[in-house]
Amino acid sequence: MIRVLLIGNGAREHVIAETVKRSAHDIALFSCMKSNNPGIASLSEEVLTTGYDNREEIGRFAMENTIDFAIIGPEDPLNNGIVDFLKNEGIPSVGPTKSLARLETSKAFTRNLLEKYDIPGNPQFRTFSSLEGIEEFIAPLDGVVVKPDGLTGGKGVMVQGDHFQTKDEAIEQCEKILEKHPSVMVEERFEGEEFSLQCLCDGVTVVATPPVQDHKRRFVGDRGPNTGGMGSYSVEDHSLPFLKKADVAEGLAITRRVAEAIYLETGEYYKGVMYGGFIVTRDGVRLLEYNARFGDPEAMNILPLLKTDFVDICRAVIDGTLKDMDIEFENKATVCKYIVPMGYGLPADHPDADSTSSKIEVLDTKDVNLYYSSVDKKEDGLYMTSSRAIGVVGISDNLDSAEKIAEGAIVSIKGPIDHRPDIGTKKLINKRIQHMKEIRGQ
Ligand code: GLY
Repeated sequence: MIRVLLIGNGAREHVIAETVKRSAHDIALFSCMKSNNPGIASLSEEVLTTGYDNREEIGRFAMENTIDFAIIGPEDPLNNGIVDFLKNEGIPSVGPTKSLARLETSKAFTRNLLEKYDIPGNPQFRTFSSLEGIEEFIAPLDGVVVKPDGLTGGKGVMVQGDHFQTKDEAIEQCEKILEKHPSVMVEERFEGEEFSLQCLCDGVTVVATPPVQDHKRRFVGDRGPNTGGMGSYSVEDHSLPFLKKADVAEGLAITRRVAEAIYLETGEYYKGVMYGGFIVTRDGVRLLEYNARFGDPEAMNILPLLKTDFVDICRAVIDGTLKDMDIEFENKATVCKYIVPMGYGLPADHPDADSTSSKIEVLDTKDVNLYYSSVDKKEDGLYMTSSRAIGVVGISDNLDSAEKIAEGAIVSIKGPIDHRPDIGTKKLINKRIQHMKEIRGQ
């Protein structure tokens, strides 16, 4: 029997739990969650409900249940050093140590690493701890991106043209960020289409999973505030309709060089997921940021397609034997749409913002994969919190039918819910293709 500890309580961890349980090995899954996800709980032998900063309690739970290895889902426990803590107790993890998780938790660490090791993909960038020098730095740039140098749950990036318009407003945004964070990263803005490349890494070998496109904006047509991600799709040929094969290869090549650089820089092997958020520009692929974990929602696109035993992959990541594995995915398309409360993602002073929990009902949804996120199962039914509630994933031979499966299932979820009906549709995909053609000058 292999005893696995999963840390995390979202839809990403629900799909990880499902993928662990699909293993041909005899698996006992133990879960540590900060709130009770009924999907994960139903797959677990035992659940510990605690905060992700409570390393002692998590460590005790892992020791009591003689855990063989842990899988860390979200960034918070990585940032809290749970991997280091478990390592000291003799329990290895799929997930980097606190120091290596800087790949996600410190944008400056990653930008400086690429620069030092001469790895392509960086924009012009600088980190500032005061407003001094920002005006001069941004003056020659066509467009500017500002972000805190720290964790922001995918919602901290402010882009000129989207979130603010002028250079003066860029400086105002920097000022706001510096009120809450010790430093602000200011970068050149790229024009292009984004893709997520989630790579498995044992410290030496890096293996890409199929690319996925996420949709950060809250409303149809890519309007409204940034969210953690409203939905995502992947394609049966393991590319994306606006990508060239060379684009994915470029993202993977950058990630391989980064894995090598991390080892050279720290003397430590990175074991876990390196999820590169890339953008294809007129001049090639550029790096927006790395995350030190699977994407949410992107994990729901790729893990259900995994043909290779995930537990074997986890052990290879830990043992450093990924190079001996042939990791395969089904040639299917996937469309994931997140069901969210109506007020999700809106600023607190917005008239539709609402943080009360509402009841939802899930009727018959047999042809679709459902992954629970921020829902609470009470005696009288299922309640949403104020965050993303359920990931609905359609899987089929092509994108069109995967989208229809996902959309068709959403009518079976009743309550004050919202979602983005445009994700995965021909209309939106064609817009992406057209945009990329214009960028490439075709
Ligand atoms: N899909 C965005 C994230 O996982 O951070």
